[in-house]
Amino acid sequence: MYKRSFLDISSLKREEIDGLVRLAARLKAEKKAGIEQQYLQGKNIVLLFAKDSTRTRCSFEVGAFDQGARVTYIGSSGSQMGKKESIEDTARVLGRMYDGIEYRGYGQEIVETLAEYSGVPVWNGLTNESHPTQFLADLLTITEHSDKPLEQIKVCFAGTADNNVALSLMVGCAKMGIEYSAAAPAAYHPDATLVERLRRENGARITISEDVATAVAGADFIYTDVWVSMGEPTEVWAERIERLAPYQVNRRMMELTGNPNCRFMHCLPAFHDLETTVAQEIHRQFGLSEMEVSDEVFESEASIVFDEAENRMHTIKAIMVATLSEQPETTF
Ligand code: CP
Ligand code: NVA
Repeated sequence: MYKRSFLDISSLKREEIDGLVRLAARLKAEKKAGIEQQYLQGKNIVLLFAKDSTRTRCSFEVGAFDQGARVTYIGSSGSQMGKKESIEDTARVLGRMYDGIEYRGYGQEIVETLAEYSGVPVWNGLTNESHPTQFLADLLTITEHSDKPLEQIKVCFAGTADNNVALSLMVGCAKMGIEYSAAAPAAYHPDATLVERLRRENGARITISEDVATAVAGADFIYTDVWVSMGEPTEVWAERIERLAPYQVNRRMMELTGNPNCRFMHCLPAFHDLETTVAQEIHRQFGLSEMEVSDEVFESEASIVFDEAENRMHTIKAIMVATLSEQPETTF
Protein backbone atom coordinates (compact mmCIF):
# COMPACT_ATOMS: atom_id res chain seq x y z
CA MET A 1 0.00 0.00 0.00
CA TYR A 2 3.09 2.28 0.21
CA LYS A 3 2.48 5.63 -1.53
CA ARG A 4 -1.05 4.56 -2.51
CA SER A 5 -4.22 6.51 -1.81
CA PHE A 6 -7.18 5.04 0.07
CA LEU A 7 -10.22 6.31 -1.83
CA ASP A 8 -12.75 3.47 -1.83
CA ILE A 9 -13.11 -0.22 -0.97
CA SER A 10 -13.74 -1.23 -4.60
CA SER A 11 -10.14 -0.54 -5.63
CA LEU A 12 -8.63 -2.72 -2.88
CA LYS A 13 -7.80 -6.40 -3.14
CA ARG A 14 -8.93 -8.80 -0.43
CA GLU A 15 -5.29 -9.30 0.67
CA GLU A 16 -4.84 -5.54 1.05
CA ILE A 17 -7.95 -5.16 3.21
CA ASP A 18 -6.79 -8.16 5.22
CA GLY A 19 -3.29 -6.65 5.55
CA LEU A 20 -4.67 -3.33 6.81
CA VAL A 21 -6.88 -5.01 9.42
CA ARG A 22 -4.02 -7.21 10.61
CA LEU A 23 -1.74 -4.17 10.88
CA ALA A 24 -4.47 -2.33 12.82
CA ALA A 25 -4.87 -5.26 15.22
CA ARG A 26 -1.11 -5.32 15.79
CA LEU A 27 -0.88 -1.56 16.36
CA LYS A 28 -3.87 -1.78 18.74
CA ALA A 29 -2.27 -4.57 20.77
CA GLU A 30 1.09 -2.78 20.85
CA LYS A 31 -0.46 0.51 21.97
CA LYS A 32 -2.32 -1.26 24.77
CA ALA A 33 0.91 -3.00 25.82
CA GLY A 34 2.79 0.32 25.78
CA ILE A 35 5.22 -0.87 23.09
CA GLU A 36 3.97 0.95 19.99
CA GLN A 37 6.66 1.67 17.44
CA GLN A 38 6.52 5.02 15.61
CA TYR A 39 6.60 4.75 11.82
CA LEU A 40 5.56 8.32 10.97
CA GLN A 41 8.14 10.52 12.68
CA GLY A 42 8.78 13.68 10.66
CA LYS A 43 5.61 13.28 8.54
CA ASN A 44 3.15 16.16 8.09
CA ILE A 45 -0.51 15.42 7.48
CA VAL A 46 -3.38 17.74 6.55
CA LEU A 47 -6.98 16.98 7.46
CA LEU A 48 -9.61 18.63 5.25
CA PHE A 49 -13.10 18.46 6.77
CA ALA A 50 -15.83 20.04 4.64
CA LYS A 51 -18.34 18.16 6.85
CA ASP A 52 -18.25 17.77 10.63
CA SER A 53 -16.80 14.77 12.46
CA THR A 54 -15.97 13.43 15.89
CA ARG A 55 -14.62 9.90 15.31
CA THR A 56 -12.86 10.36 11.97
CA ARG A 57 -11.13 13.60 12.90
CA CYS A 58 -10.02 12.34 16.31
CA SER A 59 -8.88 9.03 14.80
CA PHE A 60 -6.64 10.78 12.27
CA GLU A 61 -5.29 13.15 14.92
CA VAL A 62 -4.65 10.57 17.66
CA GLY A 63 -3.37 8.02 15.13
CA ALA A 64 -0.93 10.58 13.74
CA PHE A 65 0.19 11.77 17.20
CA ASP A 66 0.75 8.18 18.39
CA GLN A 67 2.90 7.55 15.33
CA GLY A 68 4.99 10.72 15.69
CA ALA A 69 3.41 12.73 12.83
CA ARG A 70 2.07 16.29 12.97
CA VAL A 71 -1.32 17.39 11.67
CA THR A 72 -3.04 20.53 10.38
CA TYR A 73 -6.85 20.57 10.65
CA ILE A 74 -8.85 22.66 8.16
CA GLY A 75 -12.64 22.83 8.59
CA SER A 76 -15.40 23.92 6.23
CA SER A 77 -14.12 27.49 6.43
CA GLY A 78 -10.61 28.76 7.03
CA SER A 79 -8.93 27.90 3.74
CA GLN A 80 -9.25 29.09 0.13
CA MET A 81 -10.25 25.60 -1.09
CA GLY A 82 -13.29 25.59 -3.36
CA LYS A 83 -14.03 29.29 -2.89
CA LYS A 84 -11.05 31.15 -4.35
CA GLU A 85 -8.94 28.12 -5.30
CA SER A 86 -9.89 25.01 -7.24
CA ILE A 87 -9.47 21.48 -5.88
CA GLU A 88 -6.69 20.92 -8.45
CA ASP A 89 -4.70 23.97 -7.37
CA THR A 90 -5.27 23.24 -3.68
CA ALA A 91 -4.04 19.68 -4.21
CA ARG A 92 -0.85 20.88 -5.93
CA VAL A 93 -0.13 23.28 -3.07
CA LEU A 94 -0.82 20.80 -0.28
CA GLY A 95 1.20 18.10 -2.04
CA ARG A 96 4.27 20.37 -1.83
CA MET A 97 3.92 20.71 1.96
CA TYR A 98 2.32 17.53 3.28
CA ASP A 99 3.08 13.81 3.13
CA GLY A 100 -0.60 12.82 3.23
CA ILE A 101 -4.04 14.41 2.83
CA GLU A 102 -7.32 13.36 4.42
CA TYR A 103 -10.58 14.66 2.92
CA ARG A 104 -14.14 14.46 4.28
CA GLY A 105 -16.90 16.08 2.31
CA TYR A 106 -19.02 15.83 -0.79
CA GLY A 107 -18.48 14.12 -4.16
CA GLN A 108 -16.18 11.14 -4.60
CA GLU A 109 -14.61 13.00 -7.53
CA ILE A 110 -13.10 15.47 -5.02
CA VAL A 111 -10.92 12.82 -3.32
CA GLU A 112 -10.00 11.46 -6.74
CA THR A 113 -8.93 14.93 -7.93
CA LEU A 114 -6.93 15.52 -4.74
CA ALA A 115 -5.13 12.20 -5.29
CA GLU A 116 -4.48 12.88 -8.96
CA TYR A 117 -3.03 16.37 -8.48
CA SER A 118 -1.31 16.27 -5.07
CA GLY A 119 1.15 13.43 -5.74
CA VAL A 120 0.82 12.20 -2.14
CA PRO A 121 -1.48 9.58 -0.54
CA VAL A 122 -5.06 10.84 -0.09
CA TRP A 123 -7.42 9.17 2.39
CA ASN A 124 -11.20 9.32 2.03
CA GLY A 125 -12.70 10.26 5.41
CA LEU A 126 -16.27 10.06 4.00
CA THR A 127 -17.84 11.28 0.79
CA ASN A 128 -21.47 11.29 -0.37
CA GLU A 129 -20.81 7.93 -2.03
CA SER A 130 -18.53 6.01 0.34
CA HIS A 131 -17.00 5.69 3.80
CA PRO A 132 -14.14 3.23 3.31
CA THR A 133 -12.26 3.86 6.59
CA GLN A 134 -15.50 3.00 8.41
CA PHE A 135 -15.54 -0.42 6.74
CA LEU A 136 -12.05 -1.27 7.98
CA ALA A 137 -13.11 -0.47 11.57
CA ASP A 138 -16.27 -2.53 11.07
CA LEU A 139 -14.28 -5.49 9.79
CA LEU A 140 -11.81 -5.36 12.70
CA THR A 141 -14.78 -5.18 15.11
CA ILE A 142 -16.54 -8.10 13.41
CA THR A 143 -13.41 -10.27 13.65
CA GLU A 144 -13.04 -9.37 17.34
CA HIS A 145 -16.63 -10.36 18.09
CA SER A 146 -16.89 -13.58 16.08
CA ASP A 147 -14.97 -16.83 16.20
CA LYS A 148 -16.32 -17.92 12.83
CA PRO A 149 -14.40 -17.75 9.55
CA LEU A 150 -15.53 -14.77 7.45
CA GLU A 151 -17.33 -17.05 4.98
CA GLN A 152 -19.69 -18.20 7.75
CA ILE A 153 -20.59 -14.69 8.95
CA LYS A 154 -23.72 -12.83 7.84
CA VAL A 155 -24.04 -9.04 8.15
CA CYS A 156 -27.41 -7.36 7.63
CA PHE A 157 -27.81 -3.61 7.06
CA ALA A 158 -31.25 -2.21 7.96
CA GLY A 159 -32.45 1.14 6.61
CA THR A 160 -30.78 3.41 4.05
CA ALA A 161 -29.08 0.61 2.13
CA ASP A 162 -27.92 2.99 -0.61
CA ASN A 163 -25.98 5.46 1.54
CA ASN A 164 -22.20 5.89 1.87
CA VAL A 165 -21.79 3.64 4.93
CA ALA A 166 -24.04 0.87 3.59
CA LEU A 167 -22.36 0.84 0.16
CA SER A 168 -18.85 0.56 1.62
CA LEU A 169 -20.11 -2.19 3.93
CA MET A 170 -21.72 -4.10 1.06
CA VAL A 171 -18.66 -3.85 -1.19
CA GLY A 172 -16.34 -4.71 1.71
CA CYS A 173 -18.36 -7.77 2.72
CA ALA A 174 -18.44 -8.91 -0.92
CA LYS A 175 -14.65 -8.62 -1.19
CA MET A 176 -14.06 -10.45 2.10
CA GLY A 177 -16.50 -13.33 1.45
CA ILE A 178 -18.93 -12.22 4.18
CA GLU A 179 -22.61 -12.83 3.40
CA TYR A 180 -24.44 -9.48 3.15
CA SER A 181 -28.11 -8.64 3.25
CA ALA A 182 -30.07 -5.41 3.35
CA ALA A 183 -33.52 -4.83 4.80
CA ALA A 184 -34.68 -1.67 3.08
CA PRO A 185 -37.62 -0.09 1.26
CA ALA A 186 -37.24 -0.26 -2.54
CA ALA A 187 -36.50 3.48 -2.69
CA TYR A 188 -33.25 2.91 -0.78
CA HIS A 189 -31.96 -0.25 -2.42
CA PRO A 190 -28.40 -0.16 -3.75
CA ASP A 191 -27.93 0.07 -7.50
CA ALA A 192 -28.82 -3.33 -9.02
CA THR A 193 -25.92 -3.12 -11.49
CA LEU A 194 -23.43 -2.79 -8.64
CA VAL A 195 -24.98 -5.74 -6.80
CA GLU A 196 -24.81 -7.86 -9.95
CA ARG A 197 -21.17 -6.89 -10.53
CA LEU A 198 -20.24 -7.86 -6.96
CA ARG A 199 -21.97 -11.21 -7.41
CA ARG A 200 -20.23 -11.81 -10.73
CA GLU A 201 -16.72 -10.62 -9.79
CA ASN A 202 -16.55 -11.78 -6.19
CA GLY A 203 -19.07 -14.62 -6.08
CA ALA A 204 -20.70 -12.43 -3.42
CA ARG A 205 -23.72 -13.67 -1.49
CA ILE A 206 -25.97 -10.60 -1.36
CA THR A 207 -29.70 -10.42 -0.59
CA ILE A 208 -31.55 -7.11 -0.91
CA SER A 209 -35.10 -7.32 0.42
CA GLU A 210 -37.98 -5.13 1.51
CA ASP A 211 -39.01 -7.95 3.82
CA VAL A 212 -37.33 -7.59 7.20
CA ALA A 213 -37.73 -11.24 8.24
CA THR A 214 -36.08 -12.45 5.02
CA ALA A 215 -33.14 -10.07 5.28
CA VAL A 216 -32.32 -10.50 8.97
CA ALA A 217 -32.73 -14.30 9.19
CA GLY A 218 -29.58 -15.85 10.67
CA ALA A 219 -27.67 -12.55 10.83
CA ASP A 220 -24.62 -12.41 13.10
CA PHE A 221 -24.50 -8.61 12.95
CA ILE A 222 -27.30 -6.10 12.37
CA TYR A 223 -26.00 -2.72 11.21
CA THR A 224 -27.75 0.59 10.72
CA ASP A 225 -27.01 4.27 10.09
CA VAL A 226 -28.85 7.58 10.32
CA TRP A 227 -31.83 8.00 7.99
CA VAL A 228 -30.62 11.38 6.72
CA SER A 229 -26.93 11.95 6.00
CA MET A 230 -24.84 15.09 6.29
CA GLY A 231 -25.38 17.38 3.32
CA GLU A 232 -28.92 16.15 2.58
CA PRO A 233 -31.74 18.73 2.78
CA THR A 234 -33.90 18.72 5.93
CA GLU A 235 -36.99 18.37 3.72
CA VAL A 236 -36.22 14.67 3.18
CA TRP A 237 -36.85 13.81 6.85
CA ALA A 238 -40.63 13.37 6.44
CA GLU A 239 -40.31 10.85 3.60
CA ARG A 240 -37.43 8.98 5.26
CA ILE A 241 -39.31 8.62 8.54
CA GLU A 242 -42.42 7.34 6.80
CA ARG A 243 -40.55 4.80 4.67
CA LEU A 244 -37.89 3.71 7.16
CA ALA A 245 -39.87 3.40 10.40
CA PRO A 246 -40.56 -0.34 9.75
CA TYR A 247 -36.80 -0.85 9.41
CA GLN A 248 -35.85 0.52 12.84
CA VAL A 249 -33.48 -1.83 14.67
CA ASN A 250 -35.36 -2.81 17.82
CA ARG A 251 -35.77 -5.85 20.02
CA ARG A 252 -38.26 -7.43 17.61
CA MET A 253 -35.79 -7.17 14.73
CA MET A 254 -32.95 -8.59 16.83
CA GLU A 255 -35.21 -11.54 17.81
CA LEU A 256 -36.25 -12.08 14.18
CA THR A 257 -32.65 -13.02 13.37
CA GLY A 258 -33.17 -16.21 15.36
CA ASN A 259 -29.59 -15.75 16.57
CA PRO A 260 -29.29 -15.01 20.31
CA ASN A 261 -25.67 -13.99 19.74
CA CYS A 262 -26.51 -11.41 17.09
CA ARG A 263 -24.62 -8.13 17.70
CA PHE A 264 -25.71 -4.58 16.92
CA MET A 265 -23.43 -2.20 14.97
CA HIS A 266 -23.70 1.49 14.01
CA CYS A 267 -21.08 3.83 12.56
CA LEU A 268 -22.35 6.59 14.94
CA PRO A 269 -23.55 9.20 15.66
CA ALA A 270 -26.94 7.53 16.36
CA PHE A 271 -30.42 8.91 17.04
CA HIS A 272 -31.49 6.60 19.86
CA ASP A 273 -32.76 9.18 22.37
CA LEU A 274 -33.64 12.86 22.73
CA GLU A 275 -30.25 14.05 23.98
CA THR A 276 -29.34 16.00 20.83
CA THR A 277 -30.74 19.17 19.28
CA VAL A 278 -31.50 17.42 15.97
CA ALA A 279 -33.39 14.60 17.74
CA GLN A 280 -35.36 17.17 19.74
CA GLU A 281 -36.32 18.99 16.54
CA ILE A 282 -37.44 15.72 14.89
CA HIS A 283 -39.42 14.89 18.04
CA ARG A 284 -41.11 18.30 17.89
CA GLN A 285 -42.02 17.89 14.21
CA PHE A 286 -42.79 14.16 13.96
CA GLY A 287 -43.23 12.91 17.53
CA LEU A 288 -40.43 10.28 17.32
CA SER A 289 -38.25 9.80 20.39
CA GLU A 290 -35.86 7.30 18.75
CA MET A 291 -35.14 6.69 15.09
CA GLU A 292 -32.94 4.15 13.29
CA VAL A 293 -32.30 2.18 16.50
CA SER A 294 -34.28 1.85 19.71
CA ASP A 295 -32.57 3.04 22.86
CA GLU A 296 -33.12 -0.47 24.27
CA VAL A 297 -30.99 -2.14 21.57
CA PHE A 298 -28.42 0.68 21.51
CA GLU A 299 -27.81 0.27 25.25
CA SER A 300 -28.10 -3.54 25.28
CA GLU A 301 -25.37 -6.15 25.77
CA ALA A 302 -25.65 -6.90 22.05
CA SER A 303 -24.44 -3.42 21.13
CA ILE A 304 -20.77 -3.18 20.13
CA VAL A 305 -20.89 0.39 18.82
CA PHE A 306 -18.20 1.78 21.10
CA ASP A 307 -15.75 -1.00 20.25
CA GLU A 308 -16.45 -0.05 16.63
CA ALA A 309 -15.80 3.64 17.41
CA GLU A 310 -12.48 2.85 19.10
CA ASN A 311 -11.46 0.72 16.14
CA ARG A 312 -11.82 3.73 13.85
CA MET A 313 -8.59 5.02 15.38
CA HIS A 314 -6.60 1.79 15.13
CA THR A 315 -7.63 1.17 11.52
CA ILE A 316 -7.09 4.77 10.37
CA LYS A 317 -3.67 4.65 12.00
CA ALA A 318 -2.95 1.46 10.03
CA ILE A 319 -3.96 3.18 6.76
CA MET A 320 -1.61 6.10 7.42
CA VAL A 321 1.24 3.78 8.40
CA ALA A 322 0.76 1.42 5.43
CA THR A 323 0.67 4.25 2.89
CA LEU A 324 3.41 6.46 4.36
CA SER A 325 5.95 3.98 5.76
CA GLU A 326 8.10 1.60 3.70
CA GLN A 327 9.26 -0.58 6.58
CA PRO A 328 9.04 -4.27 5.58
CA GLU A 329 6.56 -5.07 8.39
CA THR A 330 4.15 -2.35 7.21
CA THR A 331 4.43 -3.08 3.49
CA PHE A 332 1.94 -5.30 1.68
N1 CP B 1 -18.60 7.21 11.99
C1 CP B 1 -18.10 8.44 11.71
O1 CP B 1 -17.58 8.70 10.65
O2 CP B 1 -18.24 9.35 12.72
P1 CP B 1 -17.84 10.89 12.63
O3 CP B 1 -18.86 11.57 11.74
O4 CP B 1 -17.92 11.38 14.05
O5 CP B 1 -16.47 11.02 12.07
N1 NVA C 1 -24.30 8.35 6.48
C1 NVA C 1 -23.79 9.25 7.48
C2 NVA C 1 -22.57 8.68 8.12
C3 NVA C 1 -21.96 9.52 9.21
C4 NVA C 1 -20.73 8.89 9.79
C5 NVA C 1 -23.51 10.61 6.85
O1 NVA C 1 -22.98 10.64 5.73
O2 NVA C 1 -23.83 11.63 7.46
